[in-house]
Amino acid sequence: MSVGDLLRREQADPASKDGQIIKGCIDGGGLVPVELSLRLLRRAMEECQGKTTTTTTTTTFLVDGFPRNFENLEGWERTMAAEARVLCVLVYDVGVEELRRRILERGETSGRTDDNVKAAEKRFRTFERETVPVIKRIEREGGWRVERLEGEAGPEEVWERTRRLMEEVLAGEEQEGQ
Ligand code: C5P
Ligand code: MG
Repeated sequence: MSVGDLLRREQADPASKDGQIIKGCIDGGGLVPVELSLRLLRRAMEECQGKTTTTTTTTTFLVDGFPRNFENLEGWERTMAAEARVLCVLVYDVGVEELRRRILERGETSGRTDDNVKAAEKRFRTFERETVPVIKRIEREGGWRVERLEGEAGPEEVWERTRRLMEEVLAGEEQEGQ
């Protein structure tokens, strides 16, 4: 589940009343109110679960782009914690130079209004100001397992590392459940 993708899809829906709010946040490199992002994430998770499982089995999700600030974190704790357990938080380490390069390259074909130099710089500032402190708090308080992954390699390699870690995390869960 990609929270960014869910927001972009909602923004593109002419029937949505939240399109303008989402556009303003995305173009400005800021973060949307958590009520909005979590509502979309919850709905997507519920839809996926409804399709694939009965109510007695659990579904494991890989969520991209959440939590990005304290409001996101608190929103999760308030409305999701009772229903969804967080097995691990993945943090990808990539230098800003490489991120800039990737964003500009992706901007050639993505059609994303925030894949340009100006919006990217705002997103980097938002990340430093709002996301880094959240990661630090989660690491410090130790409630959730945090794993840092080296993200400078190509997409296949980064995905392979992600897949391996997920398998390890899930294997640990199964053992604990026995
Ligand atoms: O993760 P991605 O780069 O696709 O996110 C694009 C934009 O979506 C972010 O810059 C932000 O404006 C919005 N977003 C958000 N809250 C999140 C994730 C994404 O507001 N938790
Ligand atoms: Mg994303």
